[in-house]
Amino acid sequence: MVEGHDDKKFGTKAVHSGTNPVGGGVNTPVFLSSTYHLTEDRYAGWAAGAQHTMLYSRLSSVNSEAVAAKLVALEGAEDAEVFASGMAAISTTLLGLLSSGDHIIASSDVYGGTYGLLTQDLPRFGIEVTMADMRDPSSYEAAIKDNTKMIYVETLTNPVLKVCDLEAMANLAKQYDLISVVDNTFASPWGCNPIKFGFDLVIHSGTKYLGGHSDLIAGLVAGKKELIAQIFPKKVHFGGAADPHMCYLLERGMRTLHVRMPTHTSNAEELAKRLSNHHMIESVNHISLPENMDFELAKKILPKGSGMLAYVVKGGDSAALEFMRTLKLSLEATSLGGVESLVECPFNSSHMFVPDDIRQEAGVVPGFVRMSVGIEDVEDIWSDINQALKAVESLLITHS
Ligand SMILES: Cc1ncc(COP(=O)(O)O)c(C=O)c1O
Repeated sequence: MVEGHDDKKFGTKAVHSGTNPVGGGVNTPVFLSSTYHLTEDRYAGWAAGAQHTMLYSRLSSVNSEAVAAKLVALEGAEDAEVFASGMAAISTTLLGLLSSGDHIIASSDVYGGTYGLLTQDLPRFGIEVTMADMRDPSSYEAAIKDNTKMIYVETLTNPVLKVCDLEAMANLAKQYDLISVVDNTFASPWGCNPIKFGFDLVIHSGTKYLGGHSDLIAGLVAGKKELIAQIFPKKVHFGGAADPHMCYLLERGMRTLHVRMPTHTSNAEELAKRLSNHHMIESVNHISLPENMDFELAKKILPKGSGMLAYVVKGGDSAALEFMRTLKLSLEATSLGGVESLVECPFNSSHMFVPDDIRQEAGVVPGFVRMSVGIEDVEDIWSDINQALKAVESLLITHS
């Protein structure tokens, strides 16, 4: 792996760590080669397990190595691997570390794709899954059994944006000798470094804040060297490798993470404040609001804030759909973390296949809108929201 800049601050690491300007340029070039010349060094690397040895691009490439090294620096990890998607990172990590007869504890309000993997696929391979409440570490503790091997959480749940007490969860995992895994996608390494709280593995959908421009699909896992070394051969077997073009874009996105994130965050805070005073809004979920149930906990876990916002539009799901479709600037689209503001109703998008009762129990009530706040001028985002809420209000009055 390319050397990091361990003694430097976050922004310097984001720009420089891992970046490998082969050939005298200033960026890692897109290095297109499916295979590499087998030198003595490479044979030796192969014999030692092949990790971080450029032999064949399903294993690693110049571009995936640059991205992995940058994430190692940004998360304060020992090692990392890059994948073709966030789901490839999650499924390879879970299926790579768990075997038939093992038990994992997770939570129903994880990302919808992860929920599907946990409830539909892991059981097919004889892996037992128990759903607990990631806001309540004692519910995880109560679910621990003799065969429990792993706990799985998200820093900020999707889409309800509850904060997980990562410190308490990591301590629990240590106490019972369990592998702790966290999906840190919603926070990004700028917002939170779970390894500092004691987590073993940190997963990202690189598609989101790390890429930052809604133009790629990627996944990453970082953490303890010995665990990443176990995951690597499974990446090789399952084949979810990241291609060099995508890694080039991902690396470029990561280089400006620390510049984009403060604007995502301050825009979201401003919108949260204004929305909570709007008569067409029933409730607002944002960690910056003192009335938020996780306001205090967020000061520890996400002290710099969050660009993810959720709110409930008066009038239920039809009003929320009308609202989204009247917006002119924020686009109705799934995904998050790009420079542009995106809105979605989880009930008909990211969480469509999560059963109704589980969704409602998690807090996805009628009228719920999730917003990935972009880095446009906040006044423009606000006036767009305002005009859409006015239009919904007129519609509701007409129909009443
Ligand atoms: C929190 C979270 N984790 C993982 C994923 C999956 O990532 P990808 O779409 O890159 O496979 C998503 C996708 O929306 C997500 O929101």
